[in-house]
Amino acid sequence: VGSSAAEPTGASPASSVPLPLDADFFQDPEAVYSVLREEGPVRKVVFPLGWGEAWIVTRYEEARAALADPRLLKNDRVAVAQYLDPEQIGEFRLGEDEGLLVHMLSSDPPDHTRLRNLVNKAFTSRRVEALRPRIEAITEQLLDDMAARGANGEPVDLIDVFAGPLPMTVICELLGVPPNDRDDFRSWCTVVVADDLTEDEERTASAAIAGYLRQLVAAKRAQPGEDLLTALVQARDDGDRLDETELIAMAFLLLLAGHETTVSLIGNGVLALLRNPDQLHRLRAEPSLIGGAVEEFLRYDGPLNLATTRFTSEPVRLGGVEIPRGQIVMVSLASANHDQRRFPDAGRLDVTRRSSGHLGFGHGIHYCVGAPLARLEGEIAFRRILDRFPELALAVDPSEVRWRQSFVFHALEHLPVRLS
Ligand code: HEM
Repeated sequence: VGSSAAEPTGASPASSVPLPLDADFFQDPEAVYSVLREEGPVRKVVFPLGWGEAWIVTRYEEARAALADPRLLKNDRVAVAQYLDPEQIGEFRLGEDEGLLVHMLSSDPPDHTRLRNLVNKAFTSRRVEALRPRIEAITEQLLDDMAARGANGEPVDLIDVFAGPLPMTVICELLGVPPNDRDDFRSWCTVVVADDLTEDEERTASAAIAGYLRQLVAAKRAQPGEDLLTALVQARDDGDRLDETELIAMAFLLLLAGHETTVSLIGNGVLALLRNPDQLHRLRAEPSLIGGAVEEFLRYDGPLNLATTRFTSEPVRLGGVEIPRGQIVMVSLASANHDQRRFPDAGRLDVTRRSSGHLGFGHGIHYCVGAPLARLEGEIAFRRILDRFPELALAVDPSEVRWRQSFVFHALEHLPVRLS
């Protein structure tokens, strides 16, 4: 992609343009999106490696409309069967012939509504605010550790020592994963979301997590705690609202979704500030801007790349383009958040910008249920990092910072920094 990304493709929306998932694309997806976005709001693209075609929504208005469109489903049977090989379907998917994922992010109403109602209450702003003292304490402890490692100007990897462990510890505490199991847990999760896995490796790691969660559910049943997993186990046992597989899948989804993305809210945001010293300076001078700055980090360089996928359950006309039935539609939140029509001077980081309305947490019925938690973690993390490390700086040349080779996550491999 790289240099050729700057060239208009000249193709009409109905003819597909190649979307090479190569190192240049992962280093700078916006270079590709900006070209597609200016050519039209919806483009048909073809992936490399024989992965087939999909439709990418690149502009803000159309992305928002797509995310709220009830004809775009997560779990359209005909379309899913066409794309997924039942042989490859792990235990989080329903019947073998259907190939359906059962967790809420991959289901549609009425299942989605039922599953989401079970956890909605745990993530209200008030419930999440009650976690503040614990999140602050965990943050402080991790930053103490980071300070010790970075003493005498030694470079430290902010992802490894801080941005990774913080959300993992928080979500494990919320769900009730015992402290002694968390290291195991983190290593399985790292494997599950690794970008270069073989199917066997992915299956083994998923099975390890599922097996562990099954034991944990049994333990919560025997000895209930105050945690979210106990609440879900009780909901399961009280009525017919959640079956055992759904319960395991729910825990799996919360652990993964609650972890991976928040790592990058912190990592990508810190990098954005270090690359924009004027904005860093502004934020230090006026810490009350941090809440708004977190929204701007999500808009400017959010944790997701092309993750938000749906299927057309009937022909859908979007942005003047006719998408036939049974097609994959990928809404690029990253591209929509850089649409000049909605965010003037979108390529500039501006911690004072009114970024609300960005699509970093999605939109519509699947809008991120964990958004209040992610915002709180982000706010605490940025406040404490800026406060404790007034000389924070990149330990490598900005051009050496590597992004993960993932089309789902927009995430840094490492973020080497110096604290003094
Ligand atoms: C859904 C982003 C943190 C749990 C989503 C969606 C997005 C998103 C874009 C919608 C996907 C779609 O429509 O296809 C993020 C970002 C986060 C974050 C950027 C961090 C900065 C969290 C946290 C949790 C969480 C901390 C849990 C503790 C979920 C769940 C869903 C979801 C369960 C599915 C909701 C549904 O299907 O109704 N997230 N998320 N997320 N997120 Fe998050």
